[in-house]
Amino acid sequence: MAASHIRDVAALADKCAWNGVQEYDLIRGDFAAPYDYSNYTTPVVGPDSIDHDVLRMVRRMSIEEKVGQMTQIEVGQLIDCDGYLNVTAAEYWIDKWKVGSILETPGNHNGRYNWYSAARFSEFTDSVQKIALERGSKVPLIWGLDSVRGAQYVGGAVIFPAGIATAATFNPEYAYDAGRVAAKDSRAAGTHWAFAPIMDLSVNKLWSRVYENFGEDPFLSSEMAKMSVAGYQGDYKNDRTRVAACMKHFIGYGYPFDGKDRSNRHIAAHELLEYYVPPFKAAIDAGVATAMESYGVINGEAVMLSHYYLQKLLREQLGFKGMLVSDWGEINSQAQTYFTAKDIRQATQVALQRTSVDMSMVADDQSFGENTIDLIKRGVISERRLDQSVARILQLKKDLGLLKQPFADPKLAATVGSDQDIETARNAVRESVTLLKNSNNTLPLGLYEKVIFLGPTLNSTRYMGGGWNVHWQGPSDNEGDSVYQGFGDTILQGIESITGAAPAYLPGVDIEGAQLTSVDDIVAAAKSADKIVIGLGEHTYAENEGNIDSLALPWGQLDLVYTVAKRTNKPIVVVLVEGRPRGLGDVPKIADAVVNAYLPGAYGGLPIAEVLYGKVNPSGRLPITYPASEAQASDTIWQASYSAYNPQWAFGYGLGYSDITYSNVTLSADALFVGASITATVTVTNNGPYPQKEPVMMFTHQQYRLGYAPELFRLRGFRKVSLAVGESKEVSFTLTAEELAFWDRDLKRRIEPAPVNIAINPFTAADVVATVNLQDVDA
Ligand code: BGC
Ligand code: BGC
Repeated sequence: MAASHIRDVAALADKCAWNGVQEYDLIRGDFAAPYDYSNYTTPVVGPDSIDHDVLRMVRRMSIEEKVGQMTQIEVGQLIDCDGYLNVTAAEYWIDKWKVGSILETPGNHNGRYNWYSAARFSEFTDSVQKIALERGSKVPLIWGLDSVRGAQYVGGAVIFPAGIATAATFNPEYAYDAGRVAAKDSRAAGTHWAFAPIMDLSVNKLWSRVYENFGEDPFLSSEMAKMSVAGYQGDYKNDRTRVAACMKHFIGYGYPFDGKDRSNRHIAAHELLEYYVPPFKAAIDAGVATAMESYGVINGEAVMLSHYYLQKLLREQLGFKGMLVSDWGEINSQAQTYFTAKDIRQATQVALQRTSVDMSMVADDQSFGENTIDLIKRGVISERRLDQSVARILQLKKDLGLLKQPFADPKLAATVGSDQDIETARNAVRESVTLLKNSNNTLPLGLYEKVIFLGPTLNSTRYMGGGWNVHWQGPSDNEGDSVYQGFGDTILQGIESITGAAPAYLPGVDIEGAQLTSVDDIVAAAKSADKIVIGLGEHTYAENEGNIDSLALPWGQLDLVYTVAKRTNKPIVVVLVEGRPRGLGDVPKIADAVVNAYLPGAYGGLPIAEVLYGKVNPSGRLPITYPASEAQASDTIWQASYSAYNPQWAFGYGLGYSDITYSNVTLSADALFVGASITATVTVTNNGPYPQKEPVMMFTHQQYRLGYAPELFRLRGFRKVSLAVGESKEVSFTLTAEELAFWDRDLKRRIEPAPVNIAINPFTAADVVATVNLQDVDA
C-alpha cells in the first residue's frame, strides 16, 4: 500500500499539534422538531432499466472518469492531521482518481469529533460534495454510511435495537420503523446510501456478528428484510428523506466454520439456496437498490472472484438489477488475506471479468483505479464492462436525486433524535425483550418489593449498545458512556423513573468478571432484599472485535449469581444484555427468572425496566437457538430432525406474564397438492391476568423425506396478535405445496409426497399439531 494516506493516532501526534484525542460535538439541541412520519404502506420501487440521459452521461465519460465512479474510498483519506477536512487530500482523490463515492464517518477515522452531529457531519459531506462538483468528473458523490440500526454514526440520532432484537419482536413493522428513521437521519448528515439491512443467517453463535442479523431462520429473516428495505427506501426515487438500502453480505457469511469472523464457510450449494438465499431474494423482490458481497470464501472459493455467486446466482437467478459493491478492501484481500490471487492486479482483473461487481470499496488506496485503468488500456478488460457498472451507479445517483441536489437538507437535521424517534426505538425494545424463565411468577417485580440490583450491565448505556453503536464496535473503555453525553438511559435510570427512587445497586463485578464489591457486602445487601436482579452480559467489541474462543460469559459474572444463590434463598432475576447467546453455566437452573434484552441500544433502559415491573408484558421470542453447550454452537431450528436438539432455549421460545392457550389446529383439507394451498387455523386465548401480545408461529416438519433428512422445523408463518384479558382470536395461515418443496443436490426443487406436521408454537406449553399429506401431483 505504497501511496497510502492512512494515518494512525501515533503518527498524528508526531506530525501535528493535535494529540489525536477526539472532542465531543454537541449532539442535541434543546428540542428536536416533530416531523411527518409516512407509514409502511408507502409504495416501494426498485432499480430498473437505465435511463437514456444516464447512458448519454456514461458515453461522454473518459476511462478515468468511469473507473473513478466505480471507486469508493473511506473518509479517513480526507482527514487532515488536525482531525478536520484535508482539502488537498480531497482534491487529490477527486482530481487524480475521480473518485465517485466516499464511505463512513470521520468519527471512526481520526476525525476531530468522536460522534459527529448531523450539522457537523453534513458540513463535512457538503464541503467534499462541493469539491466533487468543481473538480474531477464533476459528478456528485454518493456517500455510504453503515446506518444499520438507526443512523448510529450520526451524533444524537436514535440508535435502534440491533438486528437480533428487532427480529425478536416477531413484528416486522419495527424493521420498517428503524429503516425509516435511519434513512432520514442519514440524509440529515448528507449521506445517501445505507449499508443495511444485514440479513446473514446467524448460524454459528460464536460469531462476533450474530447480533447484526435477524437471527437464524430464513423465513423470519426474509420478512424482516422486506420491511427493512421498505423502511430505508420507500419511494426513494422521489422521497428525499429516503436512502438506497444495501442488502448484505451476499452470501453465506453467517456460518464461519470456527466461529471466527471471515473464516471459510462449508455450505453445500443446495443448502445455500434453501436457507441463506431466501432473505436476499425477499429483499430483491422488495426492490432493494444495492447489494454488498460478502467477505471471505465459501467452500474455499472466494466470493469476490466467483462467477457463480456474483453473476449467475445474484443477477441471473435472483434477477438483481441494482448496484453491487464489494465489502471493505475485498479485492485487495484476495492477494493480501486469502491468497486467492497472485496480486491485487490479478484480483482486480478477475473480479471485473467474472463478476458483476460495480463498485470497489477500496477504502484505503488507489490500487483499484491504477490497475483497472491499466487493464483497460492494455485491452484485458473492455470499456463496455465498465459502462455497465457506471450506468448502474449513475442511475442510482439520479434516482436518489443527487444529480439535481447533492447537498444535505438542513431541515432534516432538526428532526434528528426527536422524541418520536426515541419512542419508536423504545417500542421496538418493549416488544423484543424476551422472558426465558419465570418460576413462581418471580416477575413482574412489585413496586413495594425491596429489590437489590447487581451486575455490570445495569448501569451502562454502552453495553446496551454493543457494536454499530457510535463506532463500528461500540464505544471503547476509554470513551466509556460519556461519549453519549447523557443521551439514552441505563436500566437503573429506567427503574428509577418507574419506582421514583434511586435503586439500591452494587456492581458486584465488572464486565470481565473482576470483583468490584466484596462478597460480604453483596451477600449482606442480598439478604436484606425481597428479590435480587442481576444484569449480566457482553463487553462492547471495541477492544477485541468480539472474537471469542468460548461462548461462556466471564466466570466472575456467573459466579456472582452462584454466590448470591448459595448465600441467600432469595429469588434471583437475571437480565442478559448480549449480542449473541452466551454460555450461562448453571444460571438458567439457579435463577428464578431470566430476561434476554439482547442489544437494545442506549434507549433500552426504560423499556427493560417496564418489563421488569410489569408495565409492559414481554412478547419477544428468540430469533435464534440458545445453545446449552459449546457443542451446540451451530444448532438451528432447521437442523436435521434426527440430531438431538436440546438447547438451553429453542428458537421461537419466550414467555409472557399471561397464561396463553391454543385450540387445536384445524386444516382446510387433509391433503395438499402441487399448485394448491391449505389453510391452518388456530384459536389463541389470553387467560389473563394481563393484556398480552402473542406471536403466533406456524412451523412445518415433514415426517420423512426420501434421501434427505427432514428438518426439525421450518418456520412458515407468524403473526403477532394483541389479546385483552379473556380475549380469543382466530389466526389463520396459508401454506402452499411449493413452500414445502426443497432444493436437492442437483439444484432442483423437489417435493416429497409424505405427511407434514403443522405445529403452532412448538416448545411452549401451548403447542398444537395437525398433519397434512403432501402430494406431488397437481391439484
Ligand atoms: C463490514 C460491512 C460494512 C463495511 C463498511 C465491513 O467491514 O463487513 O458490513 O458495511 O465494512 O464499513
Ligand atoms: C474495518 C471495516 C469497518 C470499518 C468501520 C475498518 O477499519 O476494516 O471493516 O467496517 O473500519 O469503520
